[in-house]
Amino acid sequence: MANKYYITTPIYYPSGNWHIGHCYTTVICDALARFHKMKGEDVYFLTGTDEHGQKVEKEALKRGITPLEFVDPLVAELKDMWRLLDVGYDRFIRTTDEDHVKCVQHIYQKLYESGDIYKAEYEGYYCTPCEAFWTESQLKDGKCPDCGREVTRQKEESYFFRLSKYAPRILKLYENDPRFLQPTSRVNEMVNNFLKAGLQDLSVSRTTVKWGIPLPFDQKHTAYVWIDALSNYISALGYGTEKDELFKKYWPAQLHLVGKEIVRFHAIIWPAILMALGEKLPEQIYGHGWLLIGGEKLSKSKQNARPELTDPYELVKRYGADAVRYYLLREIPFGSDGEYTTERFLLRVNADLANDLGNLVSRTQAMIGQNFGGKVPPQGAEEAADAELVSMCGQLFERMDADMGALNVPDALSEIFALVSRANKYIDETTPWLLAKDPAKKERLGTVLYNLAEVCRICAVALKPFLTLAPAKILKSFSCDENAGFDAMKFGLLKEGADVEKLPPVFPRIDIKKELTEVEKMVKRPSVSAHPERSEGSPQTKSEIAIDDFSKIELKIGEVIACEKVEKSDKLLHETVKIGDEVRSVVSGIAKFYSPEEMVGKKVVVVTNLKPVKLRGVLSEGMILCAEDENGLSLISPEKFVESGAIVK
Ligand code: MSP
Repeated sequence: MANKYYITTPIYYPSGNWHIGHCYTTVICDALARFHKMKGEDVYFLTGTDEHGQKVEKEALKRGITPLEFVDPLVAELKDMWRLLDVGYDRFIRTTDEDHVKCVQHIYQKLYESGDIYKAEYEGYYCTPCEAFWTESQLKDGKCPDCGREVTRQKEESYFFRLSKYAPRILKLYENDPRFLQPTSRVNEMVNNFLKAGLQDLSVSRTTVKWGIPLPFDQKHTAYVWIDALSNYISALGYGTEKDELFKKYWPAQLHLVGKEIVRFHAIIWPAILMALGEKLPEQIYGHGWLLIGGEKLSKSKQNARPELTDPYELVKRYGADAVRYYLLREIPFGSDGEYTTERFLLRVNADLANDLGNLVSRTQAMIGQNFGGKVPPQGAEEAADAELVSMCGQLFERMDADMGALNVPDALSEIFALVSRANKYIDETTPWLLAKDPAKKERLGTVLYNLAEVCRICAVALKPFLTLAPAKILKSFSCDENAGFDAMKFGLLKEGADVEKLPPVFPRIDIKKELTEVEKMVKRPSVSAHPERSEGSPQTKSEIAIDDFSKIELKIGEVIACEKVEKSDKLLHETVKIGDEVRSVVSGIAKFYSPEEMVGKKVVVVTNLKPVKLRGVLSEGMILCAEDENGLSLISPEKFVESGAIVK
């Protein structure tokens, strides 16, 4: 039976203003999940949102809406962000989901009945933004020791969880199983900052917060948000219900990957709860470092997340999802913090993707085109100069596997790019352009190009867990199966005579100086919003129309089911759009802002009663609506899920 691999991200606070720091945990989990899937393992990848608590309650109240009305669009935005970055989770759990609520109530009931939850009076300090309780001695200068903000003194009736009882078992756990909490520095933090002094019982219910899960045995109280949130890792699998097949199959988790600031909850409270429930513990908790700006955590509350520089939508729009994923996975030594700057981002993407990988692919394809009519040449006899390259190909999977097993994603990528660099050096050593001049060396030229094509193919397979667009393009261009698994990383599988297509640059080179000036200009422009479609710029004013005039326009929601560039046009895309039961051909001038791949799956607003026209010879039976500002075009999409064919009015 295949090994199973259950991996989770933390569930996100629906705070909006998503920045690239938010993407870090989830993109890494996605790469790990894809890697294990490609190894043939039975993977379950969980992410979601953490929606209850005082923060949301207050924000909703301020706006005069219900907490659910407040969080729904933010959850939709988050899902949109994962779609944008090609994050392929198996379930997106919301703590407002009915099955989760029932599971949390089941957990409280069980712990209450076993005596691990009891009623007492709570007195202490509460930090609302962190949703965390502190004792007086834990405060730093009277403020929250985590975020440095004001805390409020609170005294109220509360239920407590007997956390103190589990402290010795947790200490033993760290001692006996060093893999449980990684990197090791986090163990020292937990022991020195919390466990050494002994743990106090934890207040796990509130009477003052209404936006939470009511306790089954005392409806006046709602569940403490961290118990509510941590339970998602098992509620998502049906724990405590009759439909618990997933729980039986996937629990315990192989990995909870979390940011270092929330290790405390995962490595102390969560195992204690599981111990009290009599359930197995996750195999590993890994506390990763942060993306920093100016030495501080990139964070919405610290206001250092300038949308022009850090908004994933902007970054993907400008540089593509693969570039953003690559930066996140490669740049920061795993477990450490790393400073984020646009320049570092651009340097990394340019050096590795555009120069090293892009060059290798385009030089190889160009030379095969020029010398072998665009067909893979015969492999020929191996010479001494080929040995190192061929042997690196043979070792690549094993090396990556070891790095990924140690969760060292950046090093796994370095292995791949070491091979890419070696292949570029091999070009300089074997000088195929000179071989091409001598007809007697045609066979040798074929071998050199075969070897280079093999490196391109093997690297494309190896890159599949990390990048989601370029590997398929590269594989297709060498007539290889884009669904290939790791067994395809064996050297020599490329078929002689297969068609090789010369791709346009997979990663266009960025003129860093020019780009930095552009970005600088954007930052200086104060009115630029991260989401042009939501900006309040001054719209062009047109003369008034009556409602009857407006109602002449038929607008419907369509889903783009296929999309390609219109030949010989750098502006036009040709979309196939499903509108209810109908399928239409639509041409739109958005190619500079959206790639065809990005368009597929998008829900858009279509003007459906426009007279059909032909643009560059392609029939257009409608118009897709976009907003425009100085940054360009942005598609208008429904903010919640709606069926294609829905009327827009
Ligand atoms: N809701 C809690 C988690 C509950 S899990 C049972 C939470 N949510 S969060 O939205 O604040 O954070 C989600 C993830 O984003 C965390 O892993 C956090 O560390 C990560 N990041 C947010 N900002 C970050 C950086 N600047 N850098 C790297 N990751 C950071 O915590």
